[in-house]
Amino acid sequence: MKTIIELINEKLTAAFEEAGIPAEFAKATVSNRPDLCEYQCNGAMAAAKTLHTAPLGIAEKAVAALSEDETFAEAAAVRPGFINLKLSPEALAAYLNLIAADDKLGVSGMGKGKTAIIDYGGANVAKPLHIGHLRSAIIGESIKRMYGFNGYDVIGDVHLGDWGLQMGLIIEATRDAQPDLPYFDENYTGEYPEEAPFTISDLERIYPAASARSKVDPDFAARAHAATLKLQQKDPGYYALFKQIMRVSLPDLKKNYDRLNVHFELWKGESDVQEYIPDMIQSFKDQGLLYESEGAMVIDVAEPTDTKELPPCLILKSDGAALYATTDLATLLEREQLYAPDEMVYLTDKRQDMHFKQVFRVAKKAGIVPEDVKLQFLGFGTMNGEDGKPFKTRSGGVMRLESLIEEIYDAVYQRIQGNEELSEEEAKQEAEVISLAALKYGDLSNQASKDYVFNVEKFISFEGNTGPYILYCIVRIKSILRKYAESAADGDAAFDAASVVPAAGSAAEKALQLALARVNEVLEGACRDLAPHRLCQYIYEIANAFSSFYHETRILAEPDEEKRAGYIALLKLTLKVLLTCIDLLGFEAADRM
Ligand code: ARG
Repeated sequence: MKTIIELINEKLTAAFEEAGIPAEFAKATVSNRPDLCEYQCNGAMAAAKTLHTAPLGIAEKAVAALSEDETFAEAAAVRPGFINLKLSPEALAAYLNLIAADDKLGVSGMGKGKTAIIDYGGANVAKPLHIGHLRSAIIGESIKRMYGFNGYDVIGDVHLGDWGLQMGLIIEATRDAQPDLPYFDENYTGEYPEEAPFTISDLERIYPAASARSKVDPDFAARAHAATLKLQQKDPGYYALFKQIMRVSLPDLKKNYDRLNVHFELWKGESDVQEYIPDMIQSFKDQGLLYESEGAMVIDVAEPTDTKELPPCLILKSDGAALYATTDLATLLEREQLYAPDEMVYLTDKRQDMHFKQVFRVAKKAGIVPEDVKLQFLGFGTMNGEDGKPFKTRSGGVMRLESLIEEIYDAVYQRIQGNEELSEEEAKQEAEVISLAALKYGDLSNQASKDYVFNVEKFISFEGNTGPYILYCIVRIKSILRKYAESAADGDAAFDAASVVPAAGSAAEKALQLALARVNEVLEGACRDLAPHRLCQYIYEIANAFSSFYHETRILAEPDEEKRAGYIALLKLTLKVLLTCIDLLGFEAADRM
């Protein structure tokens, strides 16, 4: 379906052509002076330079040609050459009714027939999740949902860090604690135990201790490195122990992601693509891409048009060990074979920007993915504390994800607990829903690449640009709709029948309708530009427009039945837009608050 701005531009184009003005100038934007008009076109000013005539005259000609058009209630030429436009309330309502009738809210489906992989989450197995992983999960989940809504076949891959030094550290620490385990017996030929030699809480203790020890105990560090290498060569005992680490860690990771309402289609990781590496390296060699530099094997990725120097991509260490880039390239190879995606999006902290530039360049240069596959990296900023420095716990340590979520949850629970209408169970459920909205909206409402300040009090506030405020509006709309259905003589039937959005009768009603009419444009644009913050901005605008409308209008008390039904239709659409958007942001609404 065409967006409202496309429709306006079509009308403008026809009018420009009729008036003999080059059509390229027929472009409108949302007005930045809503007090004067709704849409504006500045094309006459630009055309004046080409046509060598005064802009106002051009604007007047265009406006004359527009005057016949019923789309506009008003088209005015204004000094020095603006064209100010107001939509006719009937045309606006007609457009909204098309949107309301479409279960995709008028989105065209730019992704139809295309496959996209979103690589997000990126937790490192057996290491604590940190804030960077939180942002990756939250932003990635939203981007994945937006891709799906826009028609893509979309696959989310958690792409675990499961093949690194942490494994060697845990293997060696386990050996020291339980040397008799069969995993360490090179001559062992039996079945390895089914039971893991540690629990998740053991692992949570073992890794940090081993990591700290490796920094002061060079022997231990060397053993851990050797164990990592041996694991990567698939030593049977180490590999069996690795499987145990995975078996114990994954349910815990899943639990964490579930709580965030983050779900992956693929639970793959670095360890899954090791068998692709040897052939891939061989192919790099055959293509003459790989060469030795300072002991390592690298591939050049710099291009003459680069403005910043891009160093060669490290493929193999001097001991022949694979690196982060190697695994990512092998993963691209596997994805190409299994899914042949048209697009891939990666989400990590923006410090990995260079890594992904290098990997994407090698992937294209070596023909791992075809030239036309779109590879994108969305690097996000840091979550800071009030002091502007990366967020820390009160004791100064890196905040664990669980404690962070718990902190927001507790604050929300405190706030709603006193509400006498709620049982304890209900209060808990509600706190869960609201705190997730608070956390996710608090994060997503910032442009991803920017740093932002984590502020529980601000995030959980029911006023201002926050998740709870959005939920509050939703709850209010739901309650009006419920009351309408309850009070109507024939209940549900009347509710269902109230489905035609009428021509707006007041400024507040029209403002809400104008905002709603942009929904498809926003949903497409936010997806195309990987920008969930635009969805947040948009629903904040909708929530405010609803709020003004609500305060200025007697909705349920409106005596004229038809008018009342029209308001209800408008609120139904408002609710649908809000619920769709929050679902794409990755959170849900409460039924009351
Ligand atoms: N595990 C990585 C980290 O913690 C993130 C993985 C991102 N995805 C990827 N394909 N490299 O930094």
